[in-house]
Amino acid sequence: MPVPKILILGGGGREHAIAHRLHTDGAEVTCAPGNDGIAEDVRCVPVDATDVSAVVALARDGGFDAVVVGPEAPLVAGVADALAEAGVPCLGPSAAAARLEGSKAFAKAFMERHEIPTARAVTVSSVADLPGALRSFDAPPVVKADGLAAGKGVVVAESFEEAEAAARACLEGGAFGRAGERVLLEERLSGEEASYFVLCDGTRFVGFAPAQDHKRLLDGDRGPNTGGMGAVVPAPVVDDDVRRRIEERIVEPTLAGAREEGFPYVGVLFVGLMIDPHGDPYVVEFNVRFGDPEAQPLLFGLDVPLLPHVLAAVRGALRPGTLPGRPAATVVVAAEGYPTSPRKGDPIEGLEAAAAVPGVKVFHAGTRKMEGGFVTAGGRVLGVCARGDDLPEALATAYRAVDCIRIPGMQVRRDIGARALARLRGPGHDVT
Ligand code: AMP
Ligand code: GLY
Repeated sequence: MPVPKILILGGGGREHAIAHRLHTDGAEVTCAPGNDGIAEDVRCVPVDATDVSAVVALARDGGFDAVVVGPEAPLVAGVADALAEAGVPCLGPSAAAARLEGSKAFAKAFMERHEIPTARAVTVSSVADLPGALRSFDAPPVVKADGLAAGKGVVVAESFEEAEAAARACLEGGAFGRAGERVLLEERLSGEEASYFVLCDGTRFVGFAPAQDHKRLLDGDRGPNTGGMGAVVPAPVVDDDVRRRIEERIVEPTLAGAREEGFPYVGVLFVGLMIDPHGDPYVVEFNVRFGDPEAQPLLFGLDVPLLPHVLAAVRGALRPGTLPGRPAATVVVAAEGYPTSPRKGDPIEGLEAAAAVPGVKVFHAGTRKMEGGFVTAGGRVLGVCARGDDLPEALATAYRAVDCIRIPGMQVRRDIGARALARLRGPGHDVT
């Protein structure tokens, strides 16, 4: 069989992890635009992933067997539809299906139509409706901008005043531009967060091991929200029983509902979850792609090749099941000033020493290669990823590699996986 040619769209740590995985699996991988760190492993071409016509031209002329889309923006912009028209298979949903991430109001209404467990929500599009909507909640609701807001459109309000101010900032103040023209007020869920990723072919799916992200900047889940400061796989809160509930109550009705409504889902579905104390899962959000950094431990930890499943998914021929993987963890190294104003151009030292730690792969998120070596070029700079026989070993290995890296002002959480480790140690062990 000829070597499959895969084009990956995007240029962060997630895309590095996808590229590394598919390259390891034997594909000929190209990444657009990629980054200087990804270019150490596979070919990168300077094509903007959101420039749909440029992507279609590249994919068609390059004779790719499949395009794998990393970030959500090209999907919401219709890249999968345009590729389908050009006859290039795409792992990533149509624009219609990408509304599950692109519009929180759409996703919420979809979940209500298909009785998928999620927090009760009210959609508000005018300030006049705000007081009545707020009064319908017994406790301060979570406020969410409807559209894509780069993970920054959510305020978990501690008071009704804070909720109202956040909603007004969207509706009147244009806090998130068009994305904030509608807001959702949503009941606040409690429990433990986890994420579940499935690869879908429109009808069937295969599941990855459950993952857990760490969204806050600082240890102890304090500080501002970020794109994610680290992730572990598996997340012990999702045991086999919880996983079954997620698949039966959420994944299956979502795929069936999407098909029924005329937008069969092909691609990676990311289910952001709250698991309540009884082990019942609720959807916090849908995303239409792999998570970043979650994709890093998920794909680096995989015990089986991903490539055959990608090719089967785009052909509509997946064999349902779960993909076995080893415990793995990513610790993100972020730049000084992240997330508000990350400093660029700082030298990165110790990359080779980190990469030499057995069981480690350093994924590049925001780096540039200069004559003297790599420098910082984004907020999240590196994802230091390790796998192990168990989670404690994977985490210890990841931190050993992190400790090789020196960047002036670098920010690293030292407690990645603490919640998972506390669960592994058993009840009575608090996260400290
Ligand atoms: P999202 O962008 O929807 O994932 O929201 C960002 C973060 O806000 C989530 O990871 C949760 O920590 C929190 N969050 C969102 N919705 C809720 C909810 N209904 N209840 C509690 N926390 C929430
Ligand atoms: N790490 C969360 C996300 O990718 O949305």
